[in-house]
Amino acid sequence: MRGLNGKLVAITGAAGAIGRATAQRFIEEGARVIALDIDGAALESLREELPGLAGSGRLDVSDPESVTAAFETVEREHGALEVLINNAGVNARHPFTDIPFADWRRVMSVNVDGAFLVAQAAARQMRATRRGVILHTASTNGLVGYRDHAIYSSGKAAVIEMSRAMALDLAPEIRVNAVCPGYVQTPLMTAGAEQAASIPLRRFGLPEEVAALFAFLASDDAAFITGQEFVIDGGEIAGGMLSGFGAAATSRLEP
Ligand SMILES: NC(=O)c1ccc[n+]([C@@H]2O[C@H](COP(=O)([O-])OP(=O)(O)OC[C@H]3O[C@@H](n4cnc5c(N)ncnc54)[C@H](O)[C@@H]3O)[C@@H](O)[C@H]2O)c1
Repeated sequence: MRGLNGKLVAITGAAGAIGRATAQRFIEEGARVIALDIDGAALESLREELPGLAGSGRLDVSDPESVTAAFETVEREHGALEVLINNAGVNARHPFTDIPFADWRRVMSVNVDGAFLVAQAAARQMRATRRGVILHTASTNGLVGYRDHAIYSSGKAAVIEMSRAMALDLAPEIRVNAVCPGYVQTPLMTAGAEQAASIPLRRFGLPEEVAALFAFLASDDAAFITGQEFVIDGGEIAGGMLSGFGAAATSRLEP
């Protein structure tokens, strides 16, 4: 990708599946990657796995003081940020009437408050240098409804709209986009073969494939792209309610 060599890139949730693959991809592109995560032990193993990291640090994205401290440290030690991958996130699944308010608050505090706090800290640094790219990890859950996902879907929809509004406020110097993965194969994934069969490409996505989209959107090849959301889901939501039926069933439903 053009323009990533030497760029200072911070990734939150960097010790997780998508964050890890994204850190690796940006290192391959020659970027200076700072890995940020709440999980100190996972960060330790990431540092061993990716010795090419320029830096790493613990932060809790839902804690304003932790975010401020982490981004001040990044700026002091490495200079102003040029690319942010705003990726930390958690999930909680419940039928709507069973949602405990504590779970609603916990997920929103990471996925919405955290996305805001991190994006604002990064944007303030980028504003000073009048350039930068901010990419959010949203989800197809922010675009269509999924059973038992009212908390997560609400939060990801908020991130998509925040991303659009940010793109307007921060133009023309800073580009802002959201990436919306569908099912991505991760170690903690609970979805099974039945869900994979319902996806038009008949498989789950790979973290590396999401990382490749981040690399493109952060690069100069995407210099005219801002304020958009990009779905990467193997076609899962392309056909609306018919996507999950497969070719044979879909043809039976043709008018
Ligand atoms: N895996 C999927 O199918 C999928 C699909 C769509 C969107 N996503 C989104 O992708 C992003 C990454 O998810 P993943 O699949 O790699 O999951 P993951 O659980 O492997 O990674 C998430 C990372 O975020 C970190 N984190 C959690 N709370 C934090 C906090 N308060 N502060 C800082 N870091 C924190 C975790 O320690 C973890 O390393 C998330 O935003 C998730 O919602 C995932």
